[in-house]
Amino acid sequence: MKHQALIITAGILLATLTGFVAFEAFRYKQEKYHDKLKQIIQKVNSSNSTWKAGENTKWINSDIAGVKAHMGVKLGQESGIKLETVSAQANGLPEEFDARVQWGDKCSSLWEVRDQSTCGSCWAFGAAESLSDRHCIHLGQDIRLSTQNLLTCCAACGDGCDGGWPEAAMDYYVNTGLVTGDLYGNNSWCQAYTFAPCAHHVTSDIYPPCTGELPTPPCINSCDSNSTHTIPYSKDIHRGSKAYGIAKDEKAIMAEIYKNGPIEVALTVYEDFLTYKTGVYQHVTGDELGGHAVKMVGWGVENGTPYWTIVNSWNESWGDKGTFKILRGKNECGIESSCVTALPAY
Ligand SMILES: *[C@@H]1O[C@H](CO)[C@@H](O)[C@H](O)[C@H]1NC(C)=O
Ligand SMILES: *[C@@H]1O[C@H](CO)[C@@H](O)[C@H](O)[C@H]1NC(C)=O
Ligand SMILES: *[C@@H]1O[C@H](CO)[C@@H](O)[C@H](O)[C@H]1NC(C)=O
Ligand SMILES: *[C@@H]1O[C@H](CO)[C@@H](O)[C@H](O)[C@H]1NC(C)=O
Ligand SMILES: *[C@@H]1O[C@H](CO)[C@@H](O)[C@H](O)[C@H]1NC(C)=O
Repeated sequence: MKHQALIITAGILLATLTGFVAFEAFRYKQEKYHDKLKQIIQKVNSSNSTWKAGENTKWINSDIAGVKAHMGVKLGQESGIKLETVSAQANGLPEEFDARVQWGDKCSSLWEVRDQSTCGSCWAFGAAESLSDRHCIHLGQDIRLSTQNLLTCCAACGDGCDGGWPEAAMDYYVNTGLVTGDLYGNNSWCQAYTFAPCAHHVTSDIYPPCTGELPTPPCINSCDSNSTHTIPYSKDIHRGSKAYGIAKDEKAIMAEIYKNGPIEVALTVYEDFLTYKTGVYQHVTGDELGGHAVKMVGWGVENGTPYWTIVNSWNESWGDKGTFKILRGKNECGIESSCVTALPAY
């Protein structure tokens, strides 16, 4: 009896110790990553680059896995979908252009910043966001297309929260179509995003920290049970008439946005990008993290540096109110090499 009690006590002690060590190891990793980002901020700010770094509260509770879970573009793996490449006429383009200013009074989606949470769904965000804008710009209806619907139902797009391909998303919009939907918790449309924003503040008790990676939810062919949208799923599908890529050419990209509205683009993310605050981003320091898709809305010149204006899906608390500028004309981080879009049909 005495022997057994001893073994049980030892077992309990060991389990407690193991749990404690695992927890401390996780905390240590988090603190170390936060420290690394702090060093990167110092390095960028003292580098006399065209941009300034700072603490984006989004990453305070994050570890490297949580950060990497945000990179959802499959680089180096082919989707098998080849879109026609278009090179639009590029005469008379202005020095500066912003689709939000051009069409934003009629089309409120242009001003929206979404939040992908810790799911590698950026490929679906860049597509749903830019296609919502284009739907309004071309057809005059200020709607929101559902990231959730694209993320969960497009099998040919890749692996859901584990990453996907922007060109496949555009193809899906033309061949299958998307229902309406907006941010987490918004039941005004058919299918809302089901992942809550992850913690952007150290003290947040409401949201979980940005760690790990969430599993892709199932594809459901009906509107959310709590949706107040009066149009049923089958009648709520919006489709495109043509999906296409844009030539890897600064002027062709500008001409496309100027004529038809925002597009989806992808870039390679390095660690310094996480700390972006203001100015024109160009890679300064840090390791490569993965591929990321975003929405390009315009261009301009800041202190002599040409830039693209881009809306991210990392919440409005990240970067410059959720947006960033990146060096234009140099294919910085591959930003000009995989631009895709589509035109809406209905
Ligand atoms: C980096 O530069 C920005 C803008 O000048 C400033 O707000 C921030 O405090 C700086 N941070 C560090 C760690 O140098
Ligand atoms: C900082 O950069 C600007 C423009 O890029 C340049 O004119 C200036 O000489 C640089 N200053 C230092 C100290 O390197
Ligand atoms: C951004 O995060 C905050 C919490 O920090 C949240 O209240 C807000 O809804 C998020 N924005 C979006 C677009 O999800
Ligand atoms: C849902 O989003 C739409 C814009 O898409 C907005 O007009 C509406 O007020 C939002 N509703 C709620 C309940 O947040
Ligand atoms: C609304 O319904 C969806 C599924 O239909 C669910 O995921 C979500 O949590 C619900 N939201 C609220 C606020 O009840």
